[in-house]
Amino acid sequence: MIKGKFPLEQFKAVETPFYYYDLSLLKLTLEKVKSLAGGFGYDVHYAVKANANKHLLELIAKEGLGADCVSGGEVGAAVEAGFSPDKIVFAGVGKADWEIKLGLEHHIFGFNVESIPELEVINQLAAERGVTASVALRINPNVDAHTHHYITTGLNENKFGFNMEDMDKVIRLLPALKNVKLIGIHFHIGSQITDMVPFQNLCVRVNEIQEFFESKGIRLEHINVGGGLGINYEHPNHVPVADFESYFKVFNNHLQLKPHQKLHFELGRAIVAPCGSLITKTLYVKEGATKQFVIVDAGMTDLIRPALYQAYHHIENISSEGPLKTYDVVGPICESSDTFGTERTLNETKRGDYIALRSAGAYGEIMASRYNLRQLPGVYYSE
Ligand code: LLP
Repeated sequence: MIKGKFPLEQFKAVETPFYYYDLSLLKLTLEKVKSLAGGFGYDVHYAVKANANKHLLELIAKEGLGADCVSGGEVGAAVEAGFSPDKIVFAGVGKADWEIKLGLEHHIFGFNVESIPELEVINQLAAERGVTASVALRINPNVDAHTHHYITTGLNENKFGFNMEDMDKVIRLLPALKNVKLIGIHFHIGSQITDMVPFQNLCVRVNEIQEFFESKGIRLEHINVGGGLGINYEHPNHVPVADFESYFKVFNNHLQLKPHQKLHFELGRAIVAPCGSLITKTLYVKEGATKQFVIVDAGMTDLIRPALYQAYHHIENISSEGPLKTYDVVGPICESSDTFGTERTLNETKRGDYIALRSAGAYGEIMASRYNLRQLPGVYYSE
């Protein structure tokens, strides 16, 4: 969505801030993912946590992707949006009983399991229903994703998954769990990874782990390498900006799949980030002691990523063609971290100008809160 393409006139009467999704860009991204992954025979599950907007979910389901869920709420939303339950995987380090039961009720494809007590509870709940639950063991590969430490998940110090040291114990336990069927292994090393080396390192680790299972005579049908592919947040926002091609190639070149095995991915950000913008209006332009502030009506409650992870989002004044000036763009919330960008170059800005925060389709709307008793942002779509 470039400046000229944003139908500002259409939105003059609408309250700000709001999320604006470019659905044609989302479709373009999905087509790209499908054709590249399809070419290698890979299965892609959309990570619902990135954006559970109903409209987007329905579109992604219609394109035939699976869903990766992390809560009962997400499993319910995925089923409702039309994802086929046999393409739904359910991950999470702390699944509550009702959430496991919901997964069993829908006969989802499988649970990504993260601990021995969870395995035992799934077995017990499946036995009570008289069904067998398919499970993949989430293994912590101890691979550094070199991303923000809040979104690194695959190191030994992180809370996620089994350590390989636990595996002998798990393998000894499994035959006693009659209502659990081991179908595969699962990994996820972190998010917003744009360097392909960590993924290559993951492949090497998965190959070693595969050898371990083989030496125990265990046949795994499914290898799930999670998500994490990052996007270039500085790219102008009108193309699918994740490097899907290099990403899938890394797995094709470095992961040794057995002929009977299927490779699964759980991509969130790379699919939905580019298609969303947060549109906000300038309330005031304030002369500070040393800098000029553009104070907008969106805050960290609408888009928390800059405050939480010091994340960069491209900021654009879509109302003005004036000379370029330097501003700090801030929100109205009573926290200093409520800053969208410092020393940003924008066309000269005045009260009432519309400001777009780009590439906000992932972990934007879904992470909005009502802190300060603010309203949740509105949502609009282009076809
Ligand atoms: N699979 C698992 C097990 C995950 O934990 C995640 C993300 C994904 C897949 C999808 O990862 P993606 O492809 O979107 O990178 N709120 C943070 C990101 C948190 C990611 C959590 N897990 C942010 O705004 O950057």
